[in-house]
Amino acid sequence: MKNGNLKIAVQKSGRLSEKSLELIEESGIKLTQEGKLKLISVGQNFPVELLFLRDDDIPQYVADKVADIGIVGENEVMEQDKPVDIADRLGFAKCRLSLAIPQDIKYNGLTFFIGKKIATSYPVILEKFLKEKKINAEIHEISGSVEIAPSIGLADAIFDIVSSGSTLISNRLKEVEIVTRSEAVIISNREMTSEKKQILEKLLFRVHSVLNAKNNKYILLNAPNGNLDKIIQLLPGMKSPTIMPLAEKGWSSLHSVVNENDFWQIIEKLKEYGAQGILVIPIEKMIV
Ligand code: PRP
Ligand code: ZN
Repeated sequence: MKNGNLKIAVQKSGRLSEKSLELIEESGIKLTQEGKLKLISVGQNFPVELLFLRDDDIPQYVADKVADIGIVGENEVMEQDKPVDIADRLGFAKCRLSLAIPQDIKYNGLTFFIGKKIATSYPVILEKFLKEKKINAEIHEISGSVEIAPSIGLADAIFDIVSSGSTLISNRLKEVEIVTRSEAVIISNREMTSEKKQILEKLLFRVHSVLNAKNNKYILLNAPNGNLDKIIQLLPGMKSPTIMPLAEKGWSSLHSVVNENDFWQIIEKLKEYGAQGILVIPIEKMIV
């Protein structure tokens, strides 16, 4: 049965590695620990095998069937441009791929880059963008520490990942153009056996229930009956909220699910509508 395992490439170390492992473990998959220098880890209760690789290599390995799927930043998928499919978007490790220039230099639009030297580890994405915008610039490919290139006179600008923006600030650079955005995605080989596709389906189902749970909270509150209609509008829940009468006349208890993104806005409205005793509880798994 070993060969039937779905092989998953994950980043060995870097911005995605911890969250990728967390997602797999929260999906109820127990992994073997193979010592410190682990290159492979096997699922104890689910037919998967994890391969720990450099993120730049993951698209190639998935295209070559060394791994069946991979968890990787979309930035690498775009840059490597290999024949793989995006099976799912995971919503973490969000970042931008942006052009940045020294803070004290005036920026007057894309024409700024004509004839300029731009340092990057993402030459493919940058070249495509410059071509599209008909900007003739020189791309200087370097593999790391791109952000120091302008200060040492190696380039006029950089094109790199921006997440919090602190790397730019500490190198006295400013983001002037967002070229594209990226997040963690699951990529898959295009010729998987139906057996492996089935394992992937099961895995994606679990992954969704974990991600949904993370994005939502369970909410309980007491509300005056007169405002119940308005509150139900605010909290549609998964189907519709559960409502139970309280011992105190004219009041009800309401249970529902609320999305993290709208959370504070909704809480403010709820208070306006007289809700009391609001409890908000994390959800461990959410099957929709
Ligand atoms: C990226 C990028 C910057 C930093 C930006 O490196 O090269 O150094 O993240 O993040 P910030 O806006 O939050 O400061 P990453 O950690 O992905 O390593 P790598 O590029 O060497 O793979
Ligand atoms: Zn990398």
